[in-house]
Amino acid sequence: MDVFKAVKLTENVYWVGAIDWAIRDFHGYSTGKGSTYNAYLILSEKVTLIDTVKAPFFEEMMMRISSVIDPSGIEIIVSNHSELDHTGSLRQTIAAVKPDKVYASPMGSKALAAHFHWEDDPIEVVKTGDSINLGNMRIEIIETRMLHWPDSMVSYLPEEKILFSQDGFGMHLASTERFDDELPLSLLEVEARKYYANILMPFSPLVTSLLGNLAKMALEIDLLCPDHGPVWRTNIDWILGKWGSWAEKKPCPRAVVIYDTMWNSTRRMAEAIIEGLAQEGVSGILMPLRASHISDIAAEVLEASALIVGSPTINGRIFPSVAECMNYLGGLKPGNLVGAAFGSYGWSGEAVKELNGLLEGMKVELVSEGLRTVYVPDEQVLEESVDLGRSAGRRIMEICGGKE
Ligand code: FEO
Repeated sequence: MDVFKAVKLTENVYWVGAIDWAIRDFHGYSTGKGSTYNAYLILSEKVTLIDTVKAPFFEEMMMRISSVIDPSGIEIIVSNHSELDHTGSLRQTIAAVKPDKVYASPMGSKALAAHFHWEDDPIEVVKTGDSINLGNMRIEIIETRMLHWPDSMVSYLPEEKILFSQDGFGMHLASTERFDDELPLSLLEVEARKYYANILMPFSPLVTSLLGNLAKMALEIDLLCPDHGPVWRTNIDWILGKWGSWAEKKPCPRAVVIYDTMWNSTRRMAEAIIEGLAQEGVSGILMPLRASHISDIAAEVLEASALIVGSPTINGRIFPSVAECMNYLGGLKPGNLVGAAFGSYGWSGEAVKELNGLLEGMKVELVSEGLRTVYVPDEQVLEESVDLGRSAGRRIMEICGGKE
């Protein structure tokens, strides 16, 4: 008996993806609620498969397809994105169904060749403005370079008003529910925000321009079908709006304070800084690096106006966990931040200066030259820590124009 069944989305379109309940690390991003790899089957005259799944889930996808049609009936495969969570089983799928055509973007064709080293390259290239003929339907192609990879494109099915958006508008969330309105919106917001922060934040200017283009094209969208997480059918405007505001990174009176500590001195300074932020009406979140995953920190930074970083000095350097986190956040290029560095040291105290350089490299506006103390902070240093928090808080409030 085939365990896995397709899920009907419309009369002619089925979800035939896979649910990865067990994944907890997606190339470094902590996926505490698993993920899905969505593939879609269109029962057009020329039966079409949109994307495939991660390699270990090939059998699951094939079972779901088989619950609707004989997989050998698939004539067209469209690969919207070449990352291996969507193409890991592409070679096997091509071998199993023997499609007439396999389409990808120009960069997708190159990426797939570099992944699979085809003997006989099966990919036909499609570009923005091209249409793929499915017989009684068509797919319109829109390239979305760097969202999430240079090869990315989305496929629009006008006859069904469906946009297949690959990574766009997705989230890592395993669930038996397939539609957004079957899940709590608060859960979707948390997971979509984390996904945006960790996957899309560096490309926010491109997201703004994509959303502008989609608005100009005035596509009618009844279903928004990403490659991860639920299919959007009720909250489409909501998720488009969320992406718009995350891409813009509007200032808001929130601050993230991250730190690591050796003997609790930097921790005590961090707690005093949070107190100072609160005194100015800023909502602060204190994230000890021993207990906070960097991908959760990124999600908080996405909706913060300040990043305040504490590190002890160890062997003349920033503490390793702080360096790792700053390296990760720097790559995500969060904009519109003020910030400061602080920390305790024993001998030489380089960490604060080094952190100032890293924050400036991220274009963070420093509200202080940095605060450091030798060994254990005394009352005066703790007061200075509160003052640092208050200085940051006042600057945040100036930028944000008051409370949320
Ligand atoms: Fe879901 Fe960029 O891959």
